[in-house]
Amino acid sequence: MAVPKTIRRALADRSIVGRVCLEAGAGVGNATAGLLEADPAAVYAVTNDADHALEVRERIEDDRAAVLYADLRSIPLPDDSVDVITAHALFNVVPPATAAAIAAELTRVVASGGTLVIDDYAPLSDAEPVRELFAVENAATELADGRPALTFYPADALRRLFAGHGWGHDRTETILEPVPWTADLLEAHADVVREQVADLPPALAAPLVSRADRLVDEIGSREVGSMYSLALHYDGALESSSRG
Ligand SMILES: C[S@@+](CC[C@H](N)C(=O)[O-])C[C@H]1O[C@@H](n2cnc3c(N)ncnc32)[C@H](O)[C@@H]1O
Repeated sequence: MAVPKTIRRALADRSIVGRVCLEAGAGVGNATAGLLEADPAAVYAVTNDADHALEVRERIEDDRAAVLYADLRSIPLPDDSVDVITAHALFNVVPPATAAAIAAELTRVVASGGTLVIDDYAPLSDAEPVRELFAVENAATELADGRPALTFYPADALRRLFAGHGWGHDRTETILEPVPWTADLLEAHADVVREQVADLPPALAAPLVSRADRLVDEIGSREVGSMYSLALHYDGALESSSRG
């Protein structure tokens, strides 16, 4: 399975050979594939999306990999059992309260000497039309089920969240700049708006759909923003009191 360049770049300075790894938020398993080519002992790919779990099981046939269909706030693994954790493009789909719970749970499962690599999109500027489309998407999901679809965390915000659980900073680097927001990808975000507002009163739904469609037309495709990779380490000996 092809491994995206961003993932190879983010994992290049991590020690993975013979270690137990966990991909937090498996999606289609790109980071699992990246970890597997670096010769780990095992990779657990965790997702709470049944379709993603199935897809990763089908795409990755490797005895060292296991897909766990589970919530990252309650990972079915023992304390101190994982050496390397990746969260590639996870946190942008995670609202803040859930991000806090996930940070606590990743800290529970990591072993002393473990490492965490968080790759995600840096926030776009307020005036950026792509950001406006995401704001419309968030308005739709907030109205439909009371949660934002997307939250773009600055690298420093996640660094501080994990520092509160005893994680130390290794490095932050840019792994993609600019980000290519293709017409298909932006259209997919407008489709999310359509799906989310389907059961809302037309007076609420129609303005959101027409604004999303207008933005997609106006933007076309766009290259803007960046993706960062934040690498952290965990020394359990310093940290046991702040777990949980
Ligand atoms: C954008 S995808 C991640 C892409 C993937 N890491 C890759 O490299 O291909 C986000 C994934 O995180 C999962 N996810 C989001 N919140 C989660 C949670 N609370 N527990 C488990 N998985 C979660 C989603 O179901 C999805 O599989």
